Amino acid sequence: MFQRLPDLAGTPISFTLDGRTAEGREGDTVASALLAAGVETCRTSAVGGEPRAPYCLMGVCFECLVTVDGVGNQQGCLVALRPGMTVETQIGQGKRELGR
Ligand code: FES
Repeated sequence: MFQRLPDLAGTPISFTLDGRTAEGREGDTVASALLAAGVETCRTSAVGGEPRAPYCLMGVCFECLVTVDGVGNQQGCLVALRPGMTVETQIGQGKRELGR
């Protein structure tokens, strides 16, 4: 299980996760905030519906896709957590942007 190092705990940041208030820390990415909050599945695979979770945490594997402020397929490990941000775990292909 993912745990924060006590010496590195930054200023709390409040955000919304799947409609509920959640808390991350200053300096978190969306993926690290989800892991620290105990979220084990941030999306399901598009084909088989298998649960997926952040893996590489450096933008390579795409296992961390989430919907951020209504925009789907965002790599949670590359998006800095901001106060008031709305994050949704993603099912399958997630939301598509209009015009695509
Ligand atoms: S965790 Fe691998 S791309 Fe985000």
